[in-house]
Amino acid sequence: MSRTRLALLGPPGAGKGTQAKRIVEVFGFRHLSTGDILRDEVGRGTDLGIRAKTFMDRGELVPDDLIIDMIGGRIEAASEGFLLDGFPRTVPQAEALETISPLDAVISIDLPREEVVNRLTARRVCVACGQIYNLAFRPPTESEICDACGGKLIQRDDDKEEVIQNRYDVYQASTSPLIEFYRERGLLEEVDGRVGSDGVFERIEELLAE
Ligand code: AP5
Repeated sequence: MSRTRLALLGPPGAGKGTQAKRIVEVFGFRHLSTGDILRDEVGRGTDLGIRAKTFMDRGELVPDDLIIDMIGGRIEAASEGFLLDGFPRTVPQAEALETISPLDAVISIDLPREEVVNRLTARRVCVACGQIYNLAFRPPTESEICDACGGKLIQRDDDKEEVIQNRYDVYQASTSPLIEFYRERGLLEEVDGRVGSDGVFERIEELLAE
């Protein structure tokens, strides 16, 4: 398969993290999620984590220079192929990525605002292994316990409704211009995120097999 440098684009809650886990299991790319890396930095109380948290808690974007410094080396090291999740998120980030390692394809998963809010207020995440659940669509067998590893399930700090609304606004203002950016370069593949997780994954598998 020729498409080994991929990025997932889409509003908060579109299913980027859910699909990324499935894609890397089947296709073996390295999963690079800027959100996961930032939450790890916050959890360890690093300088970057402390600076990033003030933006993340409000649903704002972390400044481009911090993000590019954080992810650039990881992308360069992933010579076997990578799947970016949450990066790039602004035109300056996309332009920086073109100088680090140009993409082969971008998969944009779309989801309307109302569905974003429904999904994210019901999301729970395992603190130990990162497995993603949804109280409405994919509940754990046992309340607050991860099926995969027995870890504790938590609600993310930025999954409060007012923060979710702001994240969606920020997506529309700063990230959605990337749809046109990548369409112009002939790299964009669009997927309807409203169907169930299996349906979205089937569509992505078709695209990656082409
Ligand atoms: P990040 O962690 O990247 O958050 P996000 O983009 O807002 O995306 P989410 O993780 O909330 O959603 P998702 O699309 O992965 O959905 P999921 O699969 O979990 O970023 C967090 C913050 O970090 C940002 O706000 C910003 O501050 C900062 N940041 C990160 N990257 C940055 C960058 N490049 N530049 C600047 N700042 C940056 O699914 C959501 C829920 O829906 C789950 O419960 C899931 O089970 C369920 N679900 C998924 N798919 C389906 C389906 N098809 N049907 C039904 N339910 C589904």
